[in-house]
Amino acid sequence: MNTARTYRKLYKQKLATAEALAERVESGNVVCSDITLAQPSGLLNALAQHVKKDGLTGVKQHTVLDVYPYEMYQNADLLGSLTGISWFSSGGARKAINGGYGDVMPCYYRDIPSLFEQYVDVDYFFAAVSPMDSHGYFSMSTVGSNSEAMMRKAKHIIVEVNKNLPRALHSPMVHISQVEGVCENTIPLVVLPQAKIDEVSQTIGNLIAEQIPDGATLQLGIGAVPDAVGMALKNKHDLGIHTEMFTDSMVELIECGAVNNSKKPIHTGRTVATFAFGSQRIYDLINDNPAFELLPVDYVNDPAVIAKHPNFVSINAALEVDFYGQVCAEAIGTKHVSGTGGQVDYVRGAVQSPGGMSFIAFPSTAKGGTVSKIVPMLTQGSVVTTSKNDVDCIVTEYGIAKLRGRPLSERAKALISIAHPDFRDELTFAAKKQNIII
Ligand code: COA
Repeated sequence: MNTARTYRKLYKQKLATAEALAERVESGNVVCSDITLAQPSGLLNALAQHVKKDGLTGVKQHTVLDVYPYEMYQNADLLGSLTGISWFSSGGARKAINGGYGDVMPCYYRDIPSLFEQYVDVDYFFAAVSPMDSHGYFSMSTVGSNSEAMMRKAKHIIVEVNKNLPRALHSPMVHISQVEGVCENTIPLVVLPQAKIDEVSQTIGNLIAEQIPDGATLQLGIGAVPDAVGMALKNKHDLGIHTEMFTDSMVELIECGAVNNSKKPIHTGRTVATFAFGSQRIYDLINDNPAFELLPVDYVNDPAVIAKHPNFVSINAALEVDFYGQVCAEAIGTKHVSGTGGQVDYVRGAVQSPGGMSFIAFPSTAKGGTVSKIVPMLTQGSVVTTSKNDVDCIVTEYGIAKLRGRPLSERAKALISIAHPDFRDELTFAAKKQNIII
């Protein structure tokens, strides 16, 4: 009979050190982990040591938004023996990709589960999980994301239990009978430094907040501007959250009562995200909270699911936007900065939602005011994140340019009108030279 005692016995049988478990990986194997706090730092550090000590070759490690300083992203000498492939990069992967010793996977976040299922032969799925419950289940904690697909694809599942990880009631689970090894690593949870909301971000936040009706459902992206929008919504009522990343400003909105999810037609009364990352306040809010759902990204970020919410509002950031409204949020020329993530999923979902709106918002300039982020052409070598055919509204501290449904000449004029005044003449000159303003 399967009782709590049987599961504990199984747990003890499978318990080993991170080093012993990592040593099961062989040359040529493929290892993957999911996003942010689902990454098991003990196992992944032990893997790097094993590769070096035992001279393994051809091991590939897939990462999504790396949050630990992985050795393969710090040490170019590991290329070929332990090679990182990033599906969404932060600091570490960015350095390796730009340094020529890390690889990058072009993808929409919502497609990662199906891309793994179709194209990646996974040997090992390594995951950080919260402690096992009396029924033998480990919660994937703050992460819905890709874990279910990665587990379906992996030949071997190994988990690292961190007692500090919150237990989410609605997140993917893995059972002790499914895992081949367990290690324990009680470490503090990674927290994101609070984004600094300066005057410009505050102005942009207020401009967008004016557009958001009571009862709207929100997605807020990464960065100071989406955070500023969140902070500017505290006086609204009956807001809902259906988002990719759950962030600190959303905790504020729940705690002050602006968000109650009461108007959402699906998941009514519950906050939905595909992962949560930020401060300890977020992790405390998730723990044992039935009003929180952390669900797989192929569901959460599906534009058809997003569009089911009337008045859906999506807010994301960008690095550059050209006269067509092509949005680059992931590179500056050939310099890799970030990934596509869920930006396009939410732009598409929001514009299909009845009364929905998508805002791509950013300060009008970068580099201390020396560079306009609205440009005639994207910097050579850059990539398009959101296409001209999907884009809806662009916002800077000078206003909102509605692009959707407008021809190129009107788009260019609207964009120039919200560029920094110091750059408007040269942008107008360029638009005329390109025969765009007619
Ligand atoms: N030219 C040159 N440098 C630029 C620039 C430009 N046009 N725009 C920004 N930069 C620089 C900044 O100065 C900053 O440099 P620093 O790191 O040396 O300070 C860096 O690029 C990052 O810009 P910043 O505006 O501070 O970024 P952010 O933290 O607000 O994040 C994105 C902006 C676009 C990178 C981020 O939103 C992202 O990763 N988006 C893609 C995924 C996404 O949208 N997902 C949405 C669902 S969660």
